[in-house]
Amino acid sequence: MAHIKVQLEINGESVELEVKPYETLLDTLRERLELTGTKEGCGLGACGSCTVLIDGVPTRSCITLTAEVQGARITTIEGLSDGMTLDPLQQSFMEKGAVQCGFCSPGMILTARGLLNRNPTPSREDIIKSLSSNVCRCTGYKKIIEAVEAAASPENSEN
Ligand code: FES
Ligand code: FES
Repeated sequence: MAHIKVQLEINGESVELEVKPYETLLDTLRERLELTGTKEGCGLGACGSCTVLIDGVPTRSCITLTAEVQGARITTIEGLSDGMTLDPLQQSFMEKGAVQCGFCSPGMILTARGLLNRNPTPSREDIIKSLSSNVCRCTGYKKIIEAVEAAASPENSEN
């Protein structure tokens, strides 16, 4: 089957790949680029664990074809911090005890980052609504919502 040449910016680096027409972005990230911080839960677009930012917008990578996002800027959890300083959401999730097994955390944090980028001072209801399609089997959500509230401030809008 013919492959498709794609160019992406992933975590600030330009990447060129030849992908199968039906290759998902999740598979490209995890299998080819070894960015395994992006988790595969349902594989059906239902749980949110595979969420990445595409041009700043939280998107489920398991139902996104890599060939569809030609030229896009993609941020995974590996690219959220600069290597020296954590994103305020990462810091807050740790401080508030919002991480237990951690499987949902990359998707939760990137979904919340997308929210804070478009609305740096969300209400609790905004946060709950934003995270309503991200599933966590451990925390009961309360600490996750508290962590996003704590991280929310105008200067935290980036990526
Ligand atoms: S793995 Fe993509 S939404 Fe569940
Ligand atoms: S911390 Fe375990 S699934 Fe959310």
